[in-house]
Amino acid sequence: MNFQLTEEQKLIQKTTQEFADSELAPGAIERDEKKIWPREAINKMAELGFMGIMVDPKWNGGGMDTISYTIAMEEISRADASAGVVMSVNNSLVCYLLEKYASNTVKETYLKPLASGDKLGAFSLSEPQSGSDASNMNALAIKEGDHYIINGTKNWVTNGIHADYVLLFAITTPGVGHKGISCFIIEKEWDGFDIGKPENKLGIRASDTCELYFDNVKVPEENLIGKRGEGFTIALATLDGGRIGIASQALGIAQASLKASITYSKERVQFGKPISANQAIQYKIADMAMEIESARLLTRKAAWMKDQHQSFGYYASMAKVYASEVAMRASTQCVQIHGGYGYMRESGIERLMRDAKITQIYEGTSEIQRLVIARELLQCIS
Ligand code: CAA
Repeated sequence: MNFQLTEEQKLIQKTTQEFADSELAPGAIERDEKKIWPREAINKMAELGFMGIMVDPKWNGGGMDTISYTIAMEEISRADASAGVVMSVNNSLVCYLLEKYASNTVKETYLKPLASGDKLGAFSLSEPQSGSDASNMNALAIKEGDHYIINGTKNWVTNGIHADYVLLFAITTPGVGHKGISCFIIEKEWDGFDIGKPENKLGIRASDTCELYFDNVKVPEENLIGKRGEGFTIALATLDGGRIGIASQALGIAQASLKASITYSKERVQFGKPISANQAIQYKIADMAMEIESARLLTRKAAWMKDQHQSFGYYASMAKVYASEVAMRASTQCVQIHGGYGYMRESGIERLMRDAKITQIYEGTSEIQRLVIARELLQCIS
């Protein structure tokens, strides 16, 4: 077993670390406060190759492994978890799904500009009545000649406002449950496609989330991804990888919480000494470090298994549920260590706690991850 990063992994760590510190961290508090989408930063991330890290270079990607991706996601999210989720959705949901399931024609048209970051993608599965119960959807795609006509509403779509292309899941054969769901790629400019207002969120406020409306949108049959009726299993298999991305985002938030806690506790003097001299503070810092290290090992194990083409969904769920809970605990303790100052908006400390919360919810709640883990155990162990 080798825990050393490769030269390539060290390089992406250094590049993303420097970018995060110099380009993302400075404006992160203001972007969160004013809900400003990080357009300039995302453009630079595209130039640096961060939007299609794992995609084969023949489709304009970086050709790196999933461990490199987790490292990059952690560093970006350490400075700005909003930029982290924009990157995560484009990489581990949209590009991954297209590279694995789309035809070469679709890859040429859509994957290439998405992997280079010239275009941005969104993944649109949830509906007002279907979140955790993802197959319980109403969006309908009816075949008419060489097109599908799509009607429906999707919600909580990350990147929904800024995306150029959207992966959409809709029913092509009603009445047969998940086997009637198919996946399509849709262009934002097509007639009948409309975008809802930006949601006003607790955290990751600089990223956009919205509803999408489809009113008789005419989609060429070439834009069906994978086979008809395979959409739901494609969505779940893709989410397995997405969960590694969100675990990495959570790790970034937790690591930022640890770093801020150490720095502040050494500066803040109470009762004539820095608060870091108190065991009550030291224990909190030690617990954060232990938990972050464990979450990082779990996340990299899931990434490694994916890179080895082994079944990794069980580990991805473990990594996501654990890393997101670590992020929540670390950021809450970070606020506690900062006291009144940490509770103030301008400190940027309470932002970590608000940003951490969503990692326990999107791309499958902690409860759904535990369900996936338990199902696997109950199936495999007699
Ligand atoms: N990979 C591939 N196929 C899978 C799979 C996986 N990981 N998990 C299950 N399947 C297959 C099953 O084998 C089954 O196929 P067959 O009938 O052919 O055997 C089919 O999918 C249905 O499986 P289940 O019966 O287990 O499905 P279920 O309805 O009980 O749901 C679930 C399972 C785990 C609860 C699933 O619905 C789930 O993960 N829900 C959470 C949804 C989610 O994560 N939503 C996130 C929204 S996207 C988002 O947040 C993005 C964003 O913008 C940031």
